[in-house]
Amino acid sequence: MFKFKNTNKKDLSIYIHIPFCESRCYYCDFYSSIINEENTIKYFENLQKEILIYSDFLKDKNIKSIFIGGGTPSSVNSKYIKNILKTLKEITNIDINTEITIEVNPNSINEEKLIDYLDSGINRFSMGAQSFNDNILKSIGRVHKKDDIIKAINLFHKYNIENFSFDLMLALPYQKFEDIEESINMIDVLKPAHISYYSLIIEENTLMEKLYENKKSIFADESEDRKMYHYVVNNLEKLGYHQYEISNFAKKDFVSIHNKRYWTLDNYIGFGPSAHSNIDNIRSFNHNNLNDYSNDIEKNKLPILDFEELSKVDRINEFSIMGLRMNTGIDINLANKRFNINFLEYYKKEIEKNINNNLISIQDNFIHLTEKGRDLSNTVEVDFIRLKE
Ligand SMILES: C[S@@+](CC[C@H](N)C(=O)[O-])C[C@H]1O[C@@H](n2cnc3c(N)ncnc32)[C@H](O)[C@@H]1O
Ligand code: SF4
Repeated sequence: MFKFKNTNKKDLSIYIHIPFCESRCYYCDFYSSIINEENTIKYFENLQKEILIYSDFLKDKNIKSIFIGGGTPSSVNSKYIKNILKTLKEITNIDINTEITIEVNPNSINEEKLIDYLDSGINRFSMGAQSFNDNILKSIGRVHKKDDIIKAINLFHKYNIENFSFDLMLALPYQKFEDIEESINMIDVLKPAHISYYSLIIEENTLMEKLYENKKSIFADESEDRKMYHYVVNNLEKLGYHQYEISNFAKKDFVSIHNKRYWTLDNYIGFGPSAHSNIDNIRSFNHNNLNDYSNDIEKNKLPILDFEELSKVDRINEFSIMGLRMNTGIDINLANKRFNINFLEYYKKEIEKNINNNLISIQDNFIHLTEKGRDLSNTVEVDFIRLKE
């Protein structure tokens, strides 16, 4: 039986999942359902209850970051978001330095919502742009157009919002090199502070998987995908975006605090269906559907489906993989101290093999992926995963 333990660590991040979208994009397997007002009202009542169950746990914590993600948080009336943040402010310690991000879609953000977001202390916006080509947007099931992105960003500029990020994707069906060039041009014009640029992953049981099975030729192959990725990395660097992780780029001072805390395995708590928590190496996973989640909350139970305690081997695995994905690399001294091991001995064989294959390098006690390693990061990561002892 799962029991939520308190922790001496005061710094905490919070993730809040909003499980609604206006429609389902063909590539996506994040948990969400199509929005309707009745479900929304009930959901926010339950979300509020879930947060209040954790009041005691939250009261002495310093909240470093809050991420309101989804689903599409901007698809719901902004009064719900406002109320949730108000509740959190009443029961825990949120201040001007807390990074508070909300994911917004270009078609569902408007001035009224934006004013509410700013009033409730939201200070970072992550916009799902995906592409600036209307035909491609349509072919992946997005309900917005290029013009909607531009309008939304003009609204940000009107309110002097500098701290906004774009989610963009490459290797989409029908996507040509010129589309990537166009996205880079639009970045230069619209000037986001941060960019997440993802290669399409074909997820199981999505419409995209069916499309891929039936029409492989409209998808970029591995070498085209890598060409697009290199073009993105090189050109973002030229525009002043520093790459800090395989898919993430930021202007100076705009690295996402929330992302970094995830990747350095710091404590976070997640609310809502499908949200995860990581408190002192205990991972817990909420139910990943609204019904089971609501049923538990209505019985005053934690809506937790499962949990696991990370063993030392699990933690070393994760520390190494996250380190490899970040441009700073694996901090060997920190690993030695944190896990009481000799990291270079522990992974002697794997490190030698990957150095010989020119996939990683060691500099100043940090292990980095080389450029070739970044293209083959999955194979390097697999080498750093040890099975449980
Ligand atoms: C939680 S999702 C969606 C946020 C928001 N609802 C939206 O659509 O703009 C965050 C980002 O993950 C990326 N993403 C989702 N599914 C993906 C996939 N199958 N392959 C690559 N990137 C994906 C998209 O760029 C998306 O914006
Ligand atoms: S990408 Fe965003 S809008 Fe599209 S289905 Fe996924 S969560 Fe919803």
